[in-house]
Amino acid sequence: MKKLAPFVLAFSIIGFCYSCYYDTFLELDIPIDEIVSYSNDIQPIFTASCISCHDGMTADPDLREGSSYNMLVPQYVTAFESENSSLIDNLPGNNHPVDIGFSLSDEDIALIEAWIDQGAEDN
Ligand code: HEC
Repeated sequence: MKKLAPFVLAFSIIGFCYSCYYDTFLELDIPIDEIVSYSNDIQPIFTASCISCHDGMTADPDLREGSSYNMLVPQYVTAFESENSSLIDNLPGNNHPVDIGFSLSDEDIALIEAWIDQGAEDN
């Protein structure tokens, strides 16, 4: 038994390191296999980070709850085609037309892309 101990320890360390790597990998992969909800997942991003300017007066599109969906689809969003949706190009973190001093996280951008690629529903 004693002779096995170093091997057990080595495998535990390797396994532990691998589990960290795997967690990171999964985090970047969040939205793809979940159904993304516009009202529960996407609107809260706009409400938290965008409506101070995208308030229906200061900058287009109006991203306030209740108006945002109809402002975005279809003008800025082509359902099932995030790569052809100007919303994605213009997000803070991609090529937002003015510098506002912050970027959306990779996770938030991936979530918005997934919502579009799942059909951009008002769900
Ligand atoms: C500090 C103010 C400010 C914040 C915060 C802000 N924006 Fe903007 N945004 C602007 C301005 C100004 C423009 C240029 C508007 C124009 O050309 O009419 C713009 C343009 C855009 C455009 C392109 C509009 C077009 O017609 O081409 C999109 C899309 C956009 N913003 C999305 C967002 C999103 C999503 C957020 C939140 C994550 C956000 N913005 C946060 C000020 C802001």
